[in-house]
Amino acid sequence: MEAAGAASPPTEPPPTHPAVAPLAFLLGKWRGEGEGSFPTISSFRYGEELLFSHHPSKPVISYTQKTWKAASGEPMHAESGYWRPRPDGSVDVVIAQSTGLAEVQKGSYDAEKKTVTLQSELVGNASKVKQITRTFQVADGELSYVVQMATITTSLQPHLRALLKRI
Ligand code: HEM
Repeated sequence: MEAAGAASPPTEPPPTHPAVAPLAFLLGKWRGEGEGSFPTISSFRYGEELLFSHHPSKPVISYTQKTWKAASGEPMHAESGYWRPRPDGSVDVVIAQSTGLAEVQKGSYDAEKKTVTLQSELVGNASKVKQITRTFQVADGELSYVVQMATITTSLQPHLRALLKRI
C-alpha cells in the first residue's frame, strides 16, 4: 500500500491496453459543431461533445456522446457504447441511442490514416431506420465524422456531419 500523500497526479496519459493502442488517436474529449440533414427533414445545427475513454487493463474503449441545439443549448440526441478494436484491423462497436434505438456496428480502422469506417450489422428497436454507416477521421488535431442512414422511405445518405476539436 502507498503511504498517504505519496501519490501525485499523473503527468502523462495512462498507457493503453495493446488492443486499444491502434485507436489511441480517438482517445480523449472532443467538442464541436455539426449539421444534420435528410431529404425528409429541415436541416439543423447542433453542438456536440464526445468522450472516448479507456482503462489500461481493458481491451475496449468506452464512448459517450451528447448533443445540444446550437442556438439555445437545449439537449438533443445522446448515445453511448463500447468500441472493441481487433489486431486484424477490424472493430466491433455497440451503441445505445437516447431514442431507444440500438446499433451493432462492424468495420475497420487505419491507424496510420487515423480513420474508422463502420457499417451496421444490426439496427434494433427502430421504427424507420434500416441501416447506419459512420466514418471518422482525425486530421490536424480535429475529428470529423459523417453518419449516413437508410430508412424505410429513403436510401442511404448523410444525416449528420460534424467537426470537433480535442479539449
Ligand atoms: C430526424 C435517425 C442522430 C436530430 C431523424 C429521423 C430519423 C433519425 C429516422 C426521421 C427521418 C424521417 O422521418 O424520414 C437518427 C439516427 C441517428 C440520429 C439513426 C444516429 C445514428 C441524430 C442526432 C441529432 C438528430 C445526433 C441531433 C444532434 C434529428 C432531428 C430530426 C431527426 C432534429 C428531425 C426532426 C425529428 O424528426 O425529430 N433522425 N438520428 N439525429 N434527427 Fe436524427
